Amino acid sequence: MLFKNARIENNTEDQDIRVEDGLIREIGNLPEHPGEEVVDLRHKLVLPPFIESHVHLDTCLTAGDPVWNMSGTLFEGIECWSKRKEKLSVEDITERVHKVVRMYAANGIQFIRTHVDVTDPSLMAMKTMIRLREELKDLMEIQIVAFPQEGILSYPNGKELLVEAVDMGADAVGAIPHFEFTREYSVESLDFALKLAADRNKLVDVHCDEIDDEASRGLETVAARALELGLFDKVTASHTTAMHSYNNAYVLRLMRLLKMSRINFVANPLVNTHLQGRIDTYPKRRGITRVKELLAEGINVSFGHDDIFDPWYPMGNGSLRDVVFLGLHVCQMMGYEEIMDSYKLISHNAAKTLHVTDHYGIEVNKPASFIAMDAENYYEALTRDSVVLSSYKDGKKIVENTPSKKTGA
Ligand code: FE2
Repeated sequence: MLFKNARIENNTEDQDIRVEDGLIREIGNLPEHPGEEVVDLRHKLVLPPFIESHVHLDTCLTAGDPVWNMSGTLFEGIECWSKRKEKLSVEDITERVHKVVRMYAANGIQFIRTHVDVTDPSLMAMKTMIRLREELKDLMEIQIVAFPQEGILSYPNGKELLVEAVDMGADAVGAIPHFEFTREYSVESLDFALKLAADRNKLVDVHCDEIDDEASRGLETVAARALELGLFDKVTASHTTAMHSYNNAYVLRLMRLLKMSRINFVANPLVNTHLQGRIDTYPKRRGITRVKELLAEGINVSFGHDDIFDPWYPMGNGSLRDVVFLGLHVCQMMGYEEIMDSYKLISHNAAKTLHVTDHYGIEVNKPASFIAMDAENYYEALTRDSVVLSSYKDGKKIVENTPSKKTGA
């Protein structure tokens, strides 16, 4: 099968992609073989599939059920979810996850890292998500983080539940140091989670310092343990919004450790600009980690949506476009190259976070997984909110959309 006239990753020249047995076999100016099936990509932007590096699939599509988050804070969100959890059933989770995964797929996403709440004695969401990971694998590669939403030491049997969830088949171990009762619990929870990951050969993704408290310093413990246990880039710190409020002298010291540790970061611009700064008067903090500064130091950062229509965020449609769009604004990354390259925040950088680079990217001998957008380059795609025209996974078309007329183009 030959894909003709692709503008691969903002290239200004067309290239062709030959696919056989679900793999990319050749890239270049390729003559058609006799009898070969040909798809004309009509000079459209072709990118590796988008990656959602941080979401909570088990909570998606539950906003207002049974109550709305009126204060808009993270902590009221956790209270609302605590009430919604009482109504969870296998059918309820299955139906919502199927729906939201299809929403994501329609927007060119082929990989999702989901955090699944394991502070539930029945571990119902974890069991269901493990089944759904298999059920949906032709459409989406799903990675599961065992996420202790209400704490590891601050929730009854939190340690045991986390171990059980990991041994059940989670891909990564989570933690939530800023939600633990004390600073001591916070450090102990991180010691426990990272040692568990090292023992079981799992990845790590910590909800880290998602608070405006400049004294919340889980990040230094995450990075130190990643270094000491040799976990390095298998570890991700999500959110790290307290870093926004750290003093610069402390950040200068911290940066050295962050670089040595080689950990990844995930920022969630939509959700954190909504949740953070809620108790500020003025000036009101933007509530996002230091993305521009981390990238400048060569540290890997990706962007995630975090929540789609749930107690923590009352909007979202499964597209990562708005995540990138807002992220560039609040992080002040609006230079030409920064805008043009910003797709990397939801593609290549996210692939590093998920540790899937061995089977990701438009390269010979990698899976034939890519998307075509109704634009010539990503600057145009982002500005016009261009449609993902088609999404191919392992050589098979899994999504086809018609071009939007709203731009008048
Ligand atoms: Fe999250």
